[in-house]
Amino acid sequence: MAKEDPITIDQVEAIARRRLPANVYNYYSCGADDQTAVERNRTDFDRLFVLPRVLRDVAEVDTSTEMFGHTYPLPIGIAPSAMQRLAGGEGEMDVARAAASIGLNLTLSSNSTTSLEDVMSINHEMGSTTPFWLQLYLATKLDLSIPLIKRAEGFGANSRAAAGYEALVLTVDTPILGNRVNERQTPLVLPKGLHLANIGNDYGQKAGKPTSNRTLMDARSAKHAREIRREIGDGANSASLTWEETISFLRQSSKMKIILKGVMAPEDAQLAIEHGVDAIVVSNHGGRQLDCAPSTIQALPDIVAAVRGRIPVILDGGIRHGSDVFKALALGADFVLVGRPALWGLAYDGRNGVETVMNILERELSRAMALSGAVNVKDVRQASMRRSVEGRL
Ligand code: FNR
Repeated sequence: MAKEDPITIDQVEAIARRRLPANVYNYYSCGADDQTAVERNRTDFDRLFVLPRVLRDVAEVDTSTEMFGHTYPLPIGIAPSAMQRLAGGEGEMDVARAAASIGLNLTLSSNSTTSLEDVMSINHEMGSTTPFWLQLYLATKLDLSIPLIKRAEGFGANSRAAAGYEALVLTVDTPILGNRVNERQTPLVLPKGLHLANIGNDYGQKAGKPTSNRTLMDARSAKHAREIRREIGDGANSASLTWEETISFLRQSSKMKIILKGVMAPEDAQLAIEHGVDAIVVSNHGGRQLDCAPSTIQALPDIVAAVRGRIPVILDGGIRHGSDVFKALALGADFVLVGRPALWGLAYDGRNGVETVMNILERELSRAMALSGAVNVKDVRQASMRRSVEGRL
């Protein structure tokens, strides 16, 4: 069989779709309810145009950018997504190898099928200094999360010296799980041999079933309770968390940077700053939570205006082209993350597939920069953006 060499992210996804079992592809690709947010995340990028500027000496284009004092070759990191071993190969290990080899920022999901120590040791073994971040879902009983936080910081009782994550990325858009219709129709069960490698021992079985909570209307249904546990871990029912207790708990528990993921409202961005968080991720969880939420690229400008450069603003959702990265930066994002594209790369060809995906984005971003007259990321932020004729964005 001739080797397939995909040259767009859509082509990588098409290969992944053919290779993955239907229930795994559905789990990865689906959004919530009618799938409108997942679609909007994509299509709203197509409604934005970039005005090319000419005769500006674009012979050398530099895509690098800085975050928390570290220089990355690309303003693109890998978003946390659960259970990457379902895509085949060595899952999180292969994603980490790709990230370490290119020097990309990576956020590991706390619901990973590889332990956070094993993932970090890849970084060290490959001689990479690229910062990795750990995504967190908190349990209402906050203390249950302390062992995980300590392990990420490198101080846990079972931690090897390898751990040492730069930041905790607290996902705040998942007080309960969105209504994942596709996934419910073709349920996903972790195959034998795979398990959630980070949370089982900390707040897994010991914590018991999700606590009863009136906002979890149908959590009493065993099926839905199982879905919640699969996504955010046993006991990781965070429906009653609040700003004050959550952020002060994290500050007291760790010296790592604190990043809030899932901020969509400018008011929440302002609250995040008032509570002293180090960065926010404008995210609607890849359209998997509130289906009537705006796209992230639509939400971005108001958030950038509210933040006024005080902390980095990171965006994820729907990025499938280098030009999408360009548009997000031009509208004020400091950095972007990609979720599903890394999973498609993993399913396509393990570590090489993830590298292929990032190479595609790099090639497209640097071309978009040259063709629009931007030689570095600072120029991109000054690019003239023209809005779509309907002016919906
Ligand atoms: C996610 N996402 C996610 N987010 C998070 O904070 N913790 C998690 O464990 C997961 N798990 C997860 C699984 C799968 C299969 C997907 C597709 C997504 C959301 C993810 O971090 C990110 O916000 C979106 O994936 C970004 O959108 P795109 O790039 O996938 O369009």
